[in-house]
Parts: sequence; structure tokens; C-alpha cells
Amino acid sequence: MSSVPVTYGEASITPRGDYAHCDADYTCAQQWARYTPQEHELFARLYARQMALLPGRACEEFVRALPHLQARSSIPRFDDINVRLKAATDWEIVAVPGLIPEAAFFSLLAARRFPVTVWLRKPEEFDYIVEPDLFHDLFGHVPLLFEPRFADYMQAFGAGGLKAQGQHALQFLARLYWYTVEFGLIRTPQGLRIYGAGILSSGGEVEHSLHSPQARRVRFDLLRLLRSRYRIDSYQATYFIIDNFQQLFDATAPDFTPFYDQAAMLPEIEAGALLPDEVDEMVSAETD
Ligand code: PHE
Ligand code: FE
Repeated sequence: MSSVPVTYGEASITPRGDYAHCDADYTCAQQWARYTPQEHELFARLYARQMALLPGRACEEFVRALPHLQARSSIPRFDDINVRLKAATDWEIVAVPGLIPEAAFFSLLAARRFPVTVWLRKPEEFDYIVEPDLFHDLFGHVPLLFEPRFADYMQAFGAGGLKAQGQHALQFLARLYWYTVEFGLIRTPQGLRIYGAGILSSGGEVEHSLHSPQARRVRFDLLRLLRSRYRIDSYQATYFIIDNFQQLFDATAPDFTPFYDQAAMLPEIEAGALLPDEVDEMVSAETD
């Protein structure tokens, strides 16, 4: 299989990575023995940087599950994580060369298999990388697969993706992925917390997402979200807040067909915009 352009967010890119040696479903071998000592060390530094940022900022479910990765001091073997992950939620991670086409991605999720990129960023990309790498995929996404409600949401997402493809609704579903799985915030009795993988694996966005006055934070509303554009090359201008994972699962359980129809008829909402009847949740929390 050769390298083909794939859609990523609202863009199309030709991914790096070796697509010549993967199977028809895009999975490949992790080839753990090929990681260099420098790569293990870089991974450990990325891990340590994020760990220092997460207490009081990442949601409790994420923090609790992180030790299951046993990834603090080196790149773990996916097979080792799978023993624990299968026991917890019947998910497994599979190795892939990098970004994969949407249909392949959704099919894996629907089968409770989460694709993790095998390559690690270069040292000069320590602070910022556009394309997802091993650190983002593993550190950002895998811990919450240990959380039963979230794990079920991810499987439903895969099935929903396969369905949306036939309805020409993928741009809407991509927004849901972006604003929940990648950049979601959750309300807790202790305050706002992060559950989105794109924030949790980023050195700068952890702080930006919770505290920047430049960003809008609004309550999760399915139709509002489906209409909302997003950015792939800078910190987000809008974040959606859920009350708990059950709410996310319940709100997305119904057939999306009528939501897609409505979203297609209504105007798009620009990243960072607030609707006339909408409150910025952080501002309102602070002035209460
Ligand atoms: N309920 C959605 C549909 O009918 C499927 C879905 C579930 C999509 C969960 C995303 C997340 O298309
Ligand atoms: Fe991701």
C-alpha cells in the first residue's frame, strides 16, 4: 500500500510513515525493537512534561488510567498495554503507519481497535506537531479507552462514521470528533477539566484551553457543535463542555440523520464565535 493523501480536519495531507508494509486494514507491526535509545528518551521527556501539567487540569478518569500505559520512562510495547486494556474495556490498540483513510479508521473503531501511529516526532518537534504521532495517539487517546462509557462512545463513533459516509455527512461527524475526542472539556465539582487527547498531549494547549481569555467555552449542544468550524493549525478558539461521559454517550446515541439535515440547512458557525443567546461558560463561572 503506498502513501495516499488523507483528509485531516478540513485539510488533505500526504502523511509521512511507511505504508508499504501494512495490511489491507492499514494495521502493521509495531517493531518495538527498532526504536532507538534517543527515541525512548524523547518519549520519556514528552511524558514528563505533560505529567507536570496535568494534575488539577486533566479529568480524573484520564489521570487514573495513565499508569496502565506503563509508559513513563520509555515507549511501551502495544501488546503489553493490550493485556490490561482488553481486561478493562475489551478494546485493543493496533499499530498503523500514521494517518489512515477515514473508512479504515472508522472500521477499526467500530471493532474496538484503536489505531496508534508507530513513529515518534523528531526532537525539534518537541513543542508542536501538526500530524499525530505515537506520543499524541498513545498518551492522548489510550488512557480514556480504559473508561467504560468513553470506550463505548468511541465504538459508536466508528459505527456512526461508516454510516455518515453514505450520507455525505462526514464533515459534520469530523467536527464532533474534533470538539469531543480531541478537544473536549468536562465539568467536574472541582472545576473545568480536560478530556480531549489533542489538548492532553500538547505542551501549550493545556493552559490555553482552560484559562485563555481568547478562547470561548460553551455548553455541549449537538446541533450547535455540528455547525461549528474548527482550526487544525493553532490552538482552538472554541471548546465544548460536557457534564459527564454519560451525557456525551446519550446525546450521540440517537440517529443523526435529522441533525445532519438541519446542520446542512443552517449557516456554519465560525471558530471562536458566540451565538446571541449563548454564554461563555468560563466568564459566567468567574462572575457568579
Ligand atoms: N448516533 C450516530 C448516528 O446515528 C452515531 C454516532 C454515535 C456518532 C456516537 C458519533 C458518536 O449516526
Ligand atoms: Fe488524535
